[in-house]
Amino acid sequence: MVLSVEGVTKIYNSGKVKTRALNNISFTVKEGEFVAIMGPSGSGKTTLLNVIATIDRIDEGIIKIARTNICGMSQKKLAEFRRKNLGFIFQEFNLLEILTVRENIAVALTINRENPLIINERINKLCQKLDILDILDKYPTEISGGQRQRVACARAMITLPSIILADEPTGSLDSNMASVFMDTLQKINNEDNTTILMVTHDPFCASYAKRVMFLKDGKLFDEIINNTNSSKFLNNIMKTMKFLGGEC
Ligand SMILES: Nc1ncnc2c1ncn2[C@@H]1O[C@H](COP(=O)(O)OP(=O)(O)OP(=O)(O)O)[C@@H](O)[C@H]1O
Ligand SMILES: [Mg+2]
Repeated sequence: MVLSVEGVTKIYNSGKVKTRALNNISFTVKEGEFVAIMGPSGSGKTTLLNVIATIDRIDEGIIKIARTNICGMSQKKLAEFRRKNLGFIFQEFNLLEILTVRENIAVALTINRENPLIINERINKLCQKLDILDILDKYPTEISGGQRQRVACARAMITLPSIILADEPTGSLDSNMASVFMDTLQKINNEDNTTILMVTHDPFCASYAKRVMFLKDGKLFDEIINNTNSSKFLNNIMKTMKFLGGEC
């Protein structure tokens, strides 16, 4: 088991308003799974990803990643745990503009004091797969949106994380680029057995996953497994989203 979420509740207190963003939610993700999370706006998707990412704390329950209970870890330990076990791909890319693409991808390994020769070897192999070898010496401002997204993907993968967490990774891409990016994610999932947990509004993107979980009011509402042909899977995703009142 790569991820186990057991009875997790997250309550936001803002002034007099209490929001139960996650309400006693439980599920597990096995090694090599590719899971999409969908649900209407405000259903708790980002909150769920943030608590798994150790960016936010929970009020009740247990979250285990790679058999380690991440709740109650000190900030210092969490930072190290994040660097070693988690890969992030967020919508705004979060690439550092003063570093080249190569340096951006290498940053976590450099912090971990990995041997530069090994770093370069790993970067070359990974970037060949993601088709970004020819832009390694450019800066993030000098490449396209789709290329930036694949660089973010490489940066998330370079440390061989236990799990990659992606929040709306195709949110700023056009539909062409989005399908190139989803092909890439599917490839790293199939070929390297990388575990992926991805939040998306887009049923087409979700249909690349092996399983889709639907959230509603901070709870797991339903889930669909991709064991049919892909157009039927996409159809089922759209039906469930329509039922939930999502915008698709
Ligand atoms: N920092 C915060 N303070 C207070 N309430 C919050 C905070 N962040 C989120 N919420 C509330 O928690 C609930 C879940 O929010 P969350 O961002 O997880 O939804 P989401 O499913 O990601 O929605 P979207 O599809 O719009 O991104 C919402 O009701 C939201 O208003
Ligand atoms: Mg969100």
